[in-house]
Order: sequence, then structure tokens, then C-alpha cells
Amino acid sequence: MDNRPIGVFDSGLGGLSVWKEIAQLLPEESLVYYADSKYCPYGSKTQASLIELSRSITQFLIKENCKLVVVACNTATAAAITTLRNEFPLPFVGMEPAIKPAALHSQTGHIGVLATENTFKGNHFNTTKTKHASATHVHTQIGHGLVELVEAGQHNTPEAISHLSQLLQPLLGYPIDHLVLGCTHYPFLEGALQGVISKEVKIVNPAPAVARQVQKVLLSENMQCQSPHKPQFLFYTSGEVLHLQAFMQEHLSLDMEGILVKSV
Ligand code: SIN
Repeated sequence: MDNRPIGVFDSGLGGLSVWKEIAQLLPEESLVYYADSKYCPYGSKTQASLIELSRSITQFLIKENCKLVVVACNTATAAAITTLRNEFPLPFVGMEPAIKPAALHSQTGHIGVLATENTFKGNHFNTTKTKHASATHVHTQIGHGLVELVEAGQHNTPEAISHLSQLLQPLLGYPIDHLVLGCTHYPFLEGALQGVISKEVKIVNPAPAVARQVQKVLLSENMQCQSPHKPQFLFYTSGEVLHLQAFMQEHLSLDMEGILVKSV
């Protein structure tokens, strides 16, 4: 039993899509979220700088007494999770590209994956694809500009819809029946995305599976908090506090009273 908080970090606001699932699945766990908005986007940074950023955020979360760290960013997972696991003595849970469930359920044998350049370059994506989708056509598309749209609060605007329909044109030329969201920012665009692609195409958000993985690790390490436990939620940002607060209010349906949002 362990009442320390779980740390969750992302390049910015996207990881809140994962935060939300963890808070729903594990309502007694305290959570510390770190939004690295100052350095957002991570999508095309070098691996060396992604390792450096992820390392210093992990050190921060350890100082905050976190018992486990969730790398709620596909790009940072691809670039840095192996290094983090080698350097720090606590468990890490990273993002999965969710190719496996999409390939498993595909009827047409064609799936689409939307992610950042660095996620596609990472070993994890390619290994998962070879292992779980060797008999499936996996069509990839870099989500140019999508992280920026989410950070700017443009989730369902005409600009967002027009950008998405242009971006997805090449993917929609194939008979895909699943679209995997390979970046934690993209679930915030789900409404706009569903308006652009056919209703028959199922959007796959890996965040619920990542929350289940957190639960599994806590159980296997005997690290669940002691019940009943009143959770505490703490949010840090390397960007603007007001910006993070406004986003949380709009997307997390949280009672903000008693919730601390601080800058680092
Ligand atoms: C980014 O910051 O560019 C991407 C974040 C992610 O891959 O989840």
C-alpha cells in the first residue's frame, strides 16, 4: 500500500486525456500533472533534447514524491522511456501506439495511424507494427500542426476542420476502418476528426488502455493507495497557469476548488 501520488507528464495539455482516464479508473489515487508547455511541441525535437526534458521532469516528479511516472506523451515515450527506466528506480508507464487492437478488429485489413514524426521514427512504433499488424496495411500520417491546434484551444473550429480534412486526404484514399490516435493531444480533436472521416471509421484512443496498465503495475508492485483515501490533484506547467486552468475547466469537468495549479 502506498499513498504517494502518481506523476503524469506531457509536452503540454495533451496528457490530460490520459490524466482523465487514470482519475476515472483509480479515483482514490492522488495525481501530479506536469505540462511542459514551454517546450511544446515535442514532435520534431532531437532525441537528445527529448531525453533531457523527460529526465528533468522525472527528477521534478520524484521530488514531488511520486511513486510511479506515466509518460503521457507518445513522442517522449518513443524517445526516452528506455533511458528513464535505466536511470530511475521507479516504475514507468508509457504510451502504446494501439496498433494491436486496431489491427485485431479491422475488417478491411487497412488501418490509419496519426502521430508525430518522432513517434513514427521510434523503434516502438515499428516493433509494434511488425509484431501485431504484419497482416494489416498500416497507413501513417504525421499530424502536422495538430498539437498546436489543441494547445491554442482550436478543437472544433472551422479552421481545425479544414486543416484536418486536408491532412487526412491521403489516409482517406485507403479503405481504413480504424484510425489510431498516436499522440495524446489528438483525443481533444475527436469531435472534429469524426466529422471529417466516415462514421464507419472507429477512432482508437489508447488512453483508457494506458490507465488500465497503470492499475496493473500498481497492483503487481503492491503500490495502490490505501482505501479510503481522499485524492489530491496538483498541476504544474512550464507555461501559463491561466492557460492550463482554462483548458482543464473546459475539458476535465473538474470541480476546481481545492485544486492547485502552479507554474514551475
Ligand atoms: C508533441 O508535443 O509534439 C507530441 C506529443 C505526443 O506525441 O503525445
